[in-house]
Amino acid sequence: IKKIALLTSGGDAPGMNAAIRSTTLYALHHGIEVIGFRHGYNGLINNEFIRLDEPSVREIVGRGGTILKSARCEEFKTCEGMKQAAKNLSAQNIDALIVIGGDGSFAGLVKFKQFYSGQTIGIPGTIDNDIDGTDHTIGFATAVDTAVNAIDKIRDTADAFERIFVVEVMGRKSGFLALNVGVACAAEHIITFENFSNPGIELQHIATKVERIKKHRGKCSHLIVSAENLYPGGANKLASDLADYAAIECIPCILGYIQRGGDPVAKDRILATHMGAHAIQELLAGNSDIMIGIEGQFCKPIALSESVEHHKGVNQNLLDIQESLQDLR
Ligand code: F6P
Repeated sequence: IKKIALLTSGGDAPGMNAAIRSTTLYALHHGIEVIGFRHGYNGLINNEFIRLDEPSVREIVGRGGTILKSARCEEFKTCEGMKQAAKNLSAQNIDALIVIGGDGSFAGLVKFKQFYSGQTIGIPGTIDNDIDGTDHTIGFATAVDTAVNAIDKIRDTADAFERIFVVEVMGRKSGFLALNVGVACAAEHIITFENFSNPGIELQHIATKVERIKKHRGKCSHLIVSAENLYPGGANKLASDLADYAAIECIPCILGYIQRGGDPVAKDRILATHMGAHAIQELLAGNSDIMIGIEGQFCKPIALSESVEHHKGVNQNLLDIQESLQDLR
């Protein structure tokens, strides 16, 4: 291998820069030239790239966002877009493409193999942690901490006024953020894909819980952490439905994009550094069409197609435990 390209794609995640840095430095250590395409797959189609060397990745290990910029790219879903991207890679004699992103980006990379014959590797970077085949994705730990810090502040004011809040966290179609943030904030109730059935049952459940906790502990604050894209109409609708259903006054709060920003915590920097370098090790071993996963303390290759096909659910036991902690006799 003489020359590789990398890009960041989809929702940015804290730690993507650390992954760019380690991939670049580990490749340079092995005498491999590195270029970075900007703005995700758009850069590949438009041939927008920069040369990555030591100065360009210096002091970025602890910086949020991505120096290569990120984007979602509709054009890359078309044959024409993919053909153009493959042409640009061939014109520069690029032996391998590394994509740091989430499952949407990986699905694109799997399809791209019809047009590109070089090696391809995915590095999982998303705050959602929803990629099968890896215990953790880059950015998840930081996003959990960011949300927990914000919700701890909401808890202070909720306690002071003995109010009920519903806080909506990101996660797209998965509940890893909701569950982990909810546990870390000792939320009285967590609404996630694994325990939600329908709005009516949810309202009944919350109303009963609010009443029971009030009876057992006296009037107190009540924090509900909810996954986004779950309750129809989101946190705002849930709050207004609770008012209609049981005259419960509940304040909605959507955390939003702050969960994607900020400097990566040490755990994400270490994970990104490990995965980035491991991607180069896999390339040097001649492997392709894989994602770098982490299991325990070791990185391992997973077929990209598998990581895209399977759904990863949250730990049901942790969800049950959290529920029991809020249900004393
Ligand atoms: O996948 C990361 C994520 O932040 C999700 O949690 C969220 O649903 C989505 O991206 C938002 O996407 P966009 O940046 O396109 O609004």
